[in-house]
Amino acid sequence: MTGLSQRARHEIEMHRQVAHMYRRRSQWAFAEDFQQERNDVLMSLAPEHAEAIALDLGCGTGVMLDKLAGRFDRVVGLDISQEMLEGFDFSHLAEGKAVHLARADMHDLPLDDDLFDVIICRSALHHMDDEGKVLSEIARILKPDGVLVLGEPANDNVLTRWARWWVKRRPSYGTLHTIDRAYTRGQLRTLLEGAGLEVRREVRFGFIAYPLCDNPDLVPILKHLPGATALGALLRAVDRGLAKIPLLRSQSWYTMLEVGRRT
Ligand SMILES: C[S@@+](CC[C@H](N)C(=O)[O-])C[C@H]1O[C@@H](n2cnc3c(N)ncnc32)[C@H](O)[C@@H]1O
Repeated sequence: MTGLSQRARHEIEMHRQVAHMYRRRSQWAFAEDFQQERNDVLMSLAPEHAEAIALDLGCGTGVMLDKLAGRFDRVVGLDISQEMLEGFDFSHLAEGKAVHLARADMHDLPLDDDLFDVIICRSALHHMDDEGKVLSEIARILKPDGVLVLGEPANDNVLTRWARWWVKRRPSYGTLHTIDRAYTRGQLRTLLEGAGLEVRREVRFGFIAYPLCDNPDLVPILKHLPGATALGALLRAVDRGLAKIPLLRSQSWYTMLEVGRRT
């Protein structure tokens, strides 16, 4: 790839350093269960029709790709980091299912207009240099009636802001990570609207389980505790309860949106 911005080169270097953390997340059952639950909620925002072509943008090690291949006929995973793409384990795909992987920059996608029925973008937008440009690219390659499912860290809660600031200072994630970047509800909607996209549904996710289960290398508490699998399940159940309380819902660590092109 040529003509990459400084930030894109930074992302490639940073993900070269952290790819191993993504690859080994699934070795802890509490972390794997957490990822599966998050992916199930994301999939609940995606359409059901099988004869669709789906794209996972910023797919990383492909944590969504087997689920996408389970539902849609044609699936592409795209990422800028070779090391992250190499982390995808094709043996997890069900028999007869295929996924195509591509390396490209989301700011300048080598893809035709109106191509995809479904685009998933899980936790990648906040890594971008110019989110508006990336969202315009998404609007361009999404079919007029297509669906974008966007999952992003949320920044509506002062405690989560402080926790991100604190984690960023830990040596375990290196000096390059963008873990302290996240959007408020209003910021995300403004960015989407600027690209001609509109929010159709919103699900808030992750209160207590999110910081403890998402990345055991980064927050290594549960991996040292006996009964971590059961504790993780309990925390996820508590989170599902908290997400039902109107005043608390907006304070989650993570937000998931079903988005369409504005008509
Ligand atoms: C936090 S990871 C998320 C990976 C995966 N979606 C997941 O949820 O596990 C962000 C991903 O965005 C990718 N990325 C960063 N900048 C990019 C760019 N300009 N174009 C394409 N991918 C990019 C990184 O390589 C990384 O794999």
